[in-house]
Amino acid sequence: MTGYFIVFEGGEGAGKSTQEALLAQELTSEGKTVVRTREPGGTPAGEAIRNVLLSNEYAGLSDRAEALLFAAARGEHVKQVIRPALEAGAIVICDRYLDSSVAYQGYGRELGADRVRDLSVWATEGLLPDLTILLDVDPSVGLSRVESPDRLESEPIEYHQRVRAAFLDIASREPDRYLVVDASGSVEEIATTIRGRVAELLGGNA
Ligand code: TYD
Repeated sequence: MTGYFIVFEGGEGAGKSTQEALLAQELTSEGKTVVRTREPGGTPAGEAIRNVLLSNEYAGLSDRAEALLFAAARGEHVKQVIRPALEAGAIVICDRYLDSSVAYQGYGRELGADRVRDLSVWATEGLLPDLTILLDVDPSVGLSRVESPDRLESEPIEYHQRVRAAFLDIASREPDRYLVVDASGSVEEIATTIRGRVAELLGGNA
């Protein structure tokens, strides 16, 4: 594959979308082909699954069904959108990916990190990001930025603290594939740090 697969991860209210937009704008202005997408979603079936996963209408959804639906949406997303874009040489910027499942379902729901990861590896035929940018924020700060909480955002703070610790733990195991950024910095500071790391990934051509 000739493209690059860049994923943004982090807890609620970390400012991922703002930073994704800035990075996409920067790379596009340099003439690169950028595909921005998000999980759960990114395809018609994925968006339908997203509705089941996030709507407060399904408040009692079981933990295992939740994990399977995230993996199903991801498999569809990779097959229909991400792999074709990478094969065409694009830079894919994706809001959340497999580590969200490991953090939220594996650790947050305590379903087991390895099992949850294996599900997504199977669903995606093993596609992993070239670089994951983790925007780290204290959940009490992040959640205070959320206006109308969805089903997952409505979980207790302890759940979100487990998720944060999980992301930091995952990132610390593979420093070459992760950039951890303190999301309490200014938008411009964070964007500069991200641009620097992405430039390294693209071999100084970013
Ligand atoms: P979204 O509105 O996209 O949240 P955010 O703007 O914070 O990214 O909703 C995604 C929600 O789904 C978020 O609470 C994280 C959760 N999630 C999982 O629990 N597991 C997953 O595998 C993914 C992709 C997301």
